[in-house]
Amino acid sequence: MSMTELVASIAILLVSIFIFVTKSSKSRASSIPNPKAPKSYPLIGSSVAIFANRNRRIQWISDLIQSSPSATVVIHRFFLDDSHVLTGNPANVQHMLKTQFQNYEKGSKSRRALFDFLGNGIFNINGDSWKFQRQLSSHEFSTKSLRKFVETVVDTELSQRLIPTLSAAAASNAVLDLQDILQRFAFDNICQISFGYDPAYLLPGLPEAEFAKTFDEATEISSGRFNSVFPYLWKIKKFLNIGSEKRLKEASSRLRQFAKNIIKEKKQELSKNSSLESVDLLSRFLSSGHSDEDFVTDIVISFILAGRDTTSAALTWYFWLLSQNQEVEKEVLREIKEQSESPVYEEVKDMVYTHASLCESMRLYPPVPDRQQGCKTRRCFA
Ligand code: HEM
Repeated sequence: MSMTELVASIAILLVSIFIFVTKSSKSRASSIPNPKAPKSYPLIGSSVAIFANRNRRIQWISDLIQSSPSATVVIHRFFLDDSHVLTGNPANVQHMLKTQFQNYEKGSKSRRALFDFLGNGIFNINGDSWKFQRQLSSHEFSTKSLRKFVETVVDTELSQRLIPTLSAAAASNAVLDLQDILQRFAFDNICQISFGYDPAYLLPGLPEAEFAKTFDEATEISSGRFNSVFPYLWKIKKFLNIGSEKRLKEASSRLRQFAKNIIKEKKQELSKNSSLESVDLLSRFLSSGHSDEDFVTDIVISFILAGRDTTSAALTWYFWLLSQNQEVEKEVLREIKEQSESPVYEEVKDMVYTHASLCESMRLYPPVPDRQQGCKTRRCFA
């Protein structure tokens, strides 16, 4: 290549970059109707504002949505990254979740970021596989399954584990970490719906919760991939197998091994007794003819993720709020006493006040904040 050709190529390249940058910054600026929206610069988008607000992300997003006339904000990070639409506008939520649902699939970047942890589980899949998992999972939420679940699993976990643990602490004036207790409670419950397996984490002495810790680690590192100011840093770390990515790899492989052992046991159980009266999700998937262990593992991991932190976060905030509002606590107690003669599943049905106070608590402290406050969210059965 001659010198003139080289100079000409460089000039063309520079002009193209200039046009791209000017165009993209113009289109970015014009797509933001909110005067308080974070500044978006060529190439780096709003990375400066994202970095500045990294420790108050949820509050920052809520403030942005509230200050937007359309209750909707579009945020850009690096120029190669997708735009993020954050909305608190009911019409937009309806458009995304209902009328144009098919247009709002989980994107390939998000799928890649979650793949090491969730594989092709319900939270990370689109199309027919999503539909299939959704249909089979929805059986878990039929009145019959819920009743059975509450009457067997939850009631036993409550009467034999949660209440004795709380009573023992009250009798000895011991201080408990309620969040930890409720996470154990939720984990025992969700493992029993998902696998029909009891990890027995809510026992006196509060045993080391190895699987739950590994689960937390995988959840934290995977969501960190989204929240990082430099969106592709995780890929470099993954390639080099260092730091958090190395830990994620180890955690995912421990989780999968754990799930696979349970799947093997369940398969043996089902082959010995095909008429097993079991309501757990794993048995349902295996009985539907799906025996591919990787696929079934993915499904089960997504389900644990769906049910564990959500329930425990909701309960932790609820009890904290009750402790701050004694009038509400009195009303809830009154309602519980009134219903205490009814069978366990029936008693909750008429607890209007308790139900309303739980809803209010979840409105104030959403258990899945970045899904419930702003981002595109898909409907949960719960
Ligand atoms: C207070 C409790 C709960 C809250 C606040 C909650 C919230 C949510 C939210 C916001 C989503 C949408 C996530 C997204 O689109 O990315 C979701 C999805 C889901 N949740 Fe829940 N959830 C709760 C309890 C549960 C429980 C106990 C289970 C299972 C036993 C469960 C199973 C699921 C499943 C399977 C999905 C995926 C649905 C789909 O993609 O079609 N959730 N949940």
